[in-house]
Amino acid sequence: MFTTRELQDEIIRLKKEKDVCILAHAYQSHDIWEVADYVGDSYGLSKQAAAASQKTVLMCGVRFMAETVKILSPEKKVLLSNPDAGCPMAEQMDVELISGVKEKYPDYTVVAYINTTSALKTICDVCVTSSSAVQIVKNIENKNILFIPDCNLGKWVADQVLEKNIKLLQGGCPTHVRMSKHDVEKARAAHPDAILLVHPECLPEVSALADYRGSTTGIMDYAKKSDAKEFIIGTENSIVQHLQFECPDKKFYPLSKDCVCHNMKLTTLADVYQCVLGTGGEEILLEDEIREKAGRCINTMLELGQ
Ligand code: 13P
Ligand code: SF4
Repeated sequence: MFTTRELQDEIIRLKKEKDVCILAHAYQSHDIWEVADYVGDSYGLSKQAAAASQKTVLMCGVRFMAETVKILSPEKKVLLSNPDAGCPMAEQMDVELISGVKEKYPDYTVVAYINTTSALKTICDVCVTSSSAVQIVKNIENKNILFIPDCNLGKWVADQVLEKNIKLLQGGCPTHVRMSKHDVEKARAAHPDAILLVHPECLPEVSALADYRGSTTGIMDYAKKSDAKEFIIGTENSIVQHLQFECPDKKFYPLSKDCVCHNMKLTTLADVYQCVLGTGGEEILLEDEIREKAGRCINTMLELGQ
């Protein structure tokens, strides 16, 4: 039997021996952060995936993130840490639905949040992440934008890029929409000196009341740099724990105890161990045509996001 520390040491030894790069999304647990080569938001992970020198990349996160790594590095072996870890938002819209919408709006540029399947990305024009969406939408020449699937993130972008005509569809993150205006009122009453930091996947009624809106990395950077001492965190609750580790002199409170992404929480340190051992996870394999067409969408994001 291993202790957590012994298991971590074994993972670190094995990843070096087997030339594995471990990428972890910020919503992974702290014991996984400690063995990862890189931790970040979706945009940071995409950039890191393209730069990794190892032959194998293990993505500790959800399926669309591992698919993004495979699209950017087809020559690498790419593993998803837990085969059941999907993103429900990524499954909300499919090729058939969006093909129909495109027929109705032929002169619109289709902007896909990176939380979409590879198949859907093949018929979209450009991907965005929460940290790159505003800049990328500003950089698109066309005035008409169809933004899918997250209408809350899309509205947050539309409010900042008034020169564009942005059409939204009804999709979103089932985890972030659990937080309401009522949660904000309760948290502000309990912690009157705290600053409210939220993810743009939150409902507009929550975003409108926040002091800062940004990606997971954006929220963490803001809290670390701020002179304030107390923060209410409106995103997946693992960020509360990570910030508490990184800033022991500050206090962090979850906006709602219900903001837990069960898919992100599926991966355990034991899964990571099985993956580096070669007996766990799922190897991501994509058809060449899907990989190439979806790749255009992701590469355009990396170009326009610079
Ligand atoms: P970011 O990593 O871009 O902040 O997005 C959060 C998220 O929900 C990932 O699934
Ligand atoms: Fe998907 Fe939301 Fe979970 Fe992110 S937090 S993986 S968008 S369900």
